[in-house]
Amino acid sequence: MRRQHRPLRPRPRPGDLPVTPEQDDDGELDVRPLQPDDVDFLRGLARDPRVVRYVGDGRPWSEPQLQERVREALPCSAVRWFVPRDRAGNRVGLLSLRQRAPGRVEVGYWVAPDHWGRGHAGRLLRRGVEVCRGEGVTTVVARVLPGNAASHRVLLRGGFVEAEHQDDPELVLYEHQL
Ligand SMILES: CC(C)(COP(=O)(O)OP(=O)(O)OC[C@H]1O[C@@H](n2cnc3c(N)ncnc32)[C@H](O)[C@@H]1OP(=O)(O)O)[C@@H](O)C(=O)NCCC(=O)NCCS
Repeated sequence: MRRQHRPLRPRPRPGDLPVTPEQDDDGELDVRPLQPDDVDFLRGLARDPRVVRYVGDGRPWSEPQLQERVREALPCSAVRWFVPRDRAGNRVGLLSLRQRAPGRVEVGYWVAPDHWGRGHAGRLLRRGVEVCRGEGVTTVVARVLPGNAASHRVLLRGGFVEAEHQDDPELVLYEHQL
C-alpha cells in the first residue's frame, strides 16, 4: 500500500543523483527515503555493537559521526539513505546508495538485530538494485569484511559476484552488472 509523505528534499542540484520516490516492495517492506525523524532510530543502530561489528572500523558511531553522515545523506546528493518499515510500521534498517563513479553505485544495508533472519537484507538489496536499474546505473558494487558471513550470503543470493579485481585487501568487493 502506498503511503503519503511530505516532500523531503530540496530541489536536486546539477550532478546530484535523482531522488527516487517511495516504492512498494514485495509487500513486506515500505522503503522510504531518509527523513529527519528517522535519526533516533539510526542512532540506535549505529550505537549497537552487533550492527557495526562489520561496518567501517567496527566501532559504534559517535554522535558527531552520526550527525556528519546524516548531514551528508539528507540532502539530495551522491549518497542516499532509505529507511524501510515492516508491515507493522516498525523501522527495520537502512539502505544506502552511494555513487562511486558515473554509472557505478555502492549499496549498503543494515537490519536491526530484532529483525534479522527474515529476508529483509535480501529485500533491501533487491530494492537498491531496482532503484539503480531504473536510473541507468550499469554496475552496483558492495564491500564486505571477510567475516560477515550473512552479508556474503545476501549478496551471492542477490546475484552479486566477487569482483575479478579487488581494490582493498581488507574487504571483499562484489559486483552486479545490470
Ligand atoms: C548482514 C545483515 C544485513 C543480514 O540481514 P538479514 O535480514 O538477517 O539477512 P537475510 O535474512 O536477508 O539473509 C541472511 C542470509 O544469511 C544467512 N546467514 C545468517 N547468519 C549467517 C551466518 N552466521 N553464517 C552464514 N550465513 C548466515 C541466512 O541463513 C540467510 O541466508 P539464506 O537466505 O540462504 O537463508 C544483518 O545481519 C545486519 O544488519 N548486520 C549488521 C550490518 C551489516 O553487517 N551490514 C552489511 C555490511 S556489508
